[in-house]
Amino acid sequence: MTFLMTPERGRFITFEGGEGVGKSTQLARLAEHLRECGLEVVTTREPGGTPKAEKLRDFLLAGRAAPLGPLAEAALFSAARADHVATLIAPALKRGAWVLCDRFADSTSAYQGARGGVDARTLALLERAAVSETRPDLTIVLDLPAREGLARAAERRDGREEVDRFESEDPSFHEELRQAFLDIAENEPERCCVIDAARSVNDVASAVRAVVHDRFLAHAAQAAQ
Ligand code: TYD
Repeated sequence: MTFLMTPERGRFITFEGGEGVGKSTQLARLAEHLRECGLEVVTTREPGGTPKAEKLRDFLLAGRAAPLGPLAEAALFSAARADHVATLIAPALKRGAWVLCDRFADSTSAYQGARGGVDARTLALLERAAVSETRPDLTIVLDLPAREGLARAAERRDGREEVDRFESEDPSFHEELRQAFLDIAENEPERCCVIDAARSVNDVASAVRAVVHDRFLAHAAQAAQ
């Protein structure tokens, strides 16, 4: 008789925050660190992450759903998420990989909910349909004054591409977004951790690593002793 060992489920970590707070840089730094620790790491992003969801990303970020309003946008972000979860995130976690995702359902709560006015009950239904049990184990909220984030996003663009659907909103939109992410973190402190992103890339990366070690790796090391 053979016994099949089921691998321990991997950890699911999401990065959230406004424009230009450094999510993708910090996600890449954490991925590099976790790989050095010998873990299998899958990095991905939203909207997108799978071929079908990337098609919806192009549509959404070009502003083509904007005339339909925030509810339609929330539904499309959720449709992209459902495919992303089912075909990439859940299978990776199941085989034991750690998944690091640049934005996830909290972005729908902040952009289409807090700013777009879609009510919390509708968003919860959409989230349940798209995500089911695949909720993040940890969400890192990178926090930065909106003005600074927008300046960084403009610098990163360096005149190369057009601003997308959401970057083009006015500064008060972005300041409210920042507050929306802080409110999400305050309401779910066991899942979320706010990190001050107004520091050097290295300092922020160290802070992110410290949170991840504290939440997951320190316990695993203790259990192994
Ligand atoms: P992206 O270029 O990935 O922006 P950033 O570098 O700031 O993460 O574009 C994603 C945009 O889509 C961003 O403006 C946030 C927005 N968005 C939503 O409005 N709702 C969502 O559910 C998600 C995932 C993203």
